[in-house]
Amino acid sequence: MSSKYFQSSPGDLSDALVFFGATGDLAYKKIFPALQHMIQRQTLDVPVIGVAKSGWNLDQFRSRVHESLADHGGGVDTAAFSKLVQLLEYIDGDYRDPDTFRRLREALKDASRPIHYLAIPPSLFSVVVEGLERAGCTQGARVILEKPFGRDLASARKLNKVLHSIFEENNIFRIDHYLGKLAVENLLVFRFSNTFLEPIWNRNYVHSIQITMAEDFGVAGRGKFYDETGAIRDVVQNHLLQVVAFLSMEPPTANYVESLRDERVRVFRAIPPLDPAWVVRGQFHGYRQEAGIDPDSQIETYASVRFEIDSWRWAGVPFLIRTGKLLPVTATEVLAKLRQAPTGKLPPGSNYLRFRLGPDLSLNLGAQIKRSGPGLESMPVELSAVNAQADNYFPYEILLAGAMHGDLMLFVREDAVEAAWTIVDPVIGERTPLYGYEPGTWGPIEADRLAADIGGWHNPQPS
Ligand code: BG6
Repeated sequence: MSSKYFQSSPGDLSDALVFFGATGDLAYKKIFPALQHMIQRQTLDVPVIGVAKSGWNLDQFRSRVHESLADHGGGVDTAAFSKLVQLLEYIDGDYRDPDTFRRLREALKDASRPIHYLAIPPSLFSVVVEGLERAGCTQGARVILEKPFGRDLASARKLNKVLHSIFEENNIFRIDHYLGKLAVENLLVFRFSNTFLEPIWNRNYVHSIQITMAEDFGVAGRGKFYDETGAIRDVVQNHLLQVVAFLSMEPPTANYVESLRDERVRVFRAIPPLDPAWVVRGQFHGYRQEAGIDPDSQIETYASVRFEIDSWRWAGVPFLIRTGKLLPVTATEVLAKLRQAPTGKLPPGSNYLRFRLGPDLSLNLGAQIKRSGPGLESMPVELSAVNAQADNYFPYEILLAGAMHGDLMLFVREDAVEAAWTIVDPVIGERTPLYGYEPGTWGPIEADRLAADIGGWHNPQPS
């Protein structure tokens, strides 16, 4: 038996999918593979119009799609690809040129519910949205915006204002692909579909929670983007705070479709703006020599932060987030240590829950059992549940299909995006020192201080 506790709110289906940034990295690595899957699952059968300024024609665009599927889509499915080719159109043009949007208007023909996906840098969002409006492409339309949504609280607010002058909030889909991940969504389902966790999931039993998102690769050819962004804007403000929200939110009600989004924003509002004294930024040695990077760059490739959630459930429980490029492994894990048993001998954390969120998924309960031999000495074991179902969904296909149906549940609402910026705003930019670290290490040693009283940082193992 399964149950569907979380309410979603599907509406009418979009009848054209337009995406800006069609020749970019994100489209190549994530969007085309998602489109192939959607065709295989028969959830995509509308014109797909790519827009970019690359001086390409439709044939070049199609070849790029073919390459993308071969490299990142698990191979080209000939039938799905030939269907995708029939749906694909391409408009080459500058986003500041009204003629680009006039041609898009023509290509949309009689589509009455188009969806425009802006897979472009946030500095171009307003330009494109205004171009769409002037050309009459926003009637009945929806819009999807890639993260990061703005550069700070002020720019996010400004952007929301521009968007709201054209689109209603329920036609705006702010994407965060972590919300489309099985392992992340599972945090919710695991918490709220079982009774055994709830009684202990609070300050009375939980000692500390730490989340590490480690990557063993560097900026991977995205130097220009990364050097304008940095780790806090790139993944802390969005992916990792969303993980915090799923871990710590109150149960949503099944009676009201906005309930899940309400609860997420409530958590963000209970987190005070980060204190610079509890933030450590790092930059790996060699970063400034990478292509597209300012030789004096002060941008962080590593960040760790510590905060508390000001609520009855969580007051006093330390929450720590750590992320970095060129760390020893690629793995994302949550470690929730439980308080000490009253035997007095075992340190806190002898009991714990460890959620492995990527690249593989597992749930692990750290417990003590009797060691063999005389006496009643204990030893640690892990009771593990490894996800047995094959996960052949890409987060982007889940999210794109949701947005095309108007289902807002897994998208970030205006108030949530602004609340998340409010949390990180005091520590973005150069307001905290930047420490160097060697590639292949766990980041600057200055970060050890943040976890010193909770038993240190937990380093996830390779898969
Ligand atoms: C992206 C960031 O949003 O998420 C990247 O821009 C990061 O820097 C990536 O590498 C991680 O996503 P995933 O799904 O591979 O964990």
